[in-house]
Amino acid sequence: MKNMKKLLCLALAAMLCAVCFVGCGKTEADVTTAATDASTEATTEATTEATTEATTEAPAVKKTLTMATNAEFPPYEYYENDKIVGIDAEIAAAIAEKLGMELVIEDMKFDSIITSVVSGGVDMGMAGMTVTDERLESVNFSVSYATGIQSVIVKTGSDVKTLDDLAGKKIGVQLATTGDIYASGDYGEDNVIKYNKGADAVLALIGGDVDAVIIDNQPAKVFVEQNEGLEILGTEYAVEEYAIAVNKENTELLNQINGALEALIADGTVDTIVAKYISAE
Ligand code: ARG
Repeated sequence: MKNMKKLLCLALAAMLCAVCFVGCGKTEADVTTAATDASTEATTEATTEATTEATTEAPAVKKTLTMATNAEFPPYEYYENDKIVGIDAEIAAAIAEKLGMELVIEDMKFDSIITSVVSGGVDMGMAGMTVTDERLESVNFSVSYATGIQSVIVKTGSDVKTLDDLAGKKIGVQLATTGDIYASGDYGEDNVIKYNKGADAVLALIGGDVDAVIIDNQPAKVFVEQNEGLEILGTEYAVEEYAIAVNKENTELLNQINGALEALIADGTVDTIVAKYISAE
């Protein structure tokens, strides 16, 4: 076994060298991709050793951790200039760092995230995503890292004051979110207008196309702050848990993510990240 490991190390070191030569003049990203491909064949243990031994000859190689998200959901994920920032982006980066991996974020429509996790196009889905029984049929979820509340945004002075008042009204939601799923069930598919972005649902509310928007409380607060004449109803529509979605076959990654996430929760890193984006009430 020891010899086998040595052999793998040598083989890998040779491969890394080759990558190094081929890589001259390439961008760092290219080298990382190439090196990752080469290392997939070796065991993780061997990879770690080989990487350490080879540091003088080759740049450090990191396996990538690809995360699917929908960066339309402040303060969890949104664009700041060209960069995706937010609570999820930072927690994911901390997880990747703990696992010695390089985080790559892929922005997509919210309803494509689970599909991408299932197809293996990405390693994980992290998007302020609620754990639901239906989603658990297609993916596994990590331990929860946050609580979400579905809340109702209306125009100030609206005659919608309670959840009951929503009956027969037009409700705007982000497509395929729990807000969409619950509202469609409770108030009827015909009364629920689905938008690709939560912000578009809010614009529809401002424009008078819908009477209310059902969306998670933190983005709701951001949208209400950014636009005049809106308010959030005092009643909570649903309370939920956010977690990271992982392919059902990939229990090894799920365990790694859980280990890292639990440590980051225990040592206060998650709280620190949350506090950076959400001021305590
Ligand atoms: N928590 C809700 C859900 O899982 C909404 C999440 C929307 N997230 C986003 N990044 N757009 O359905």
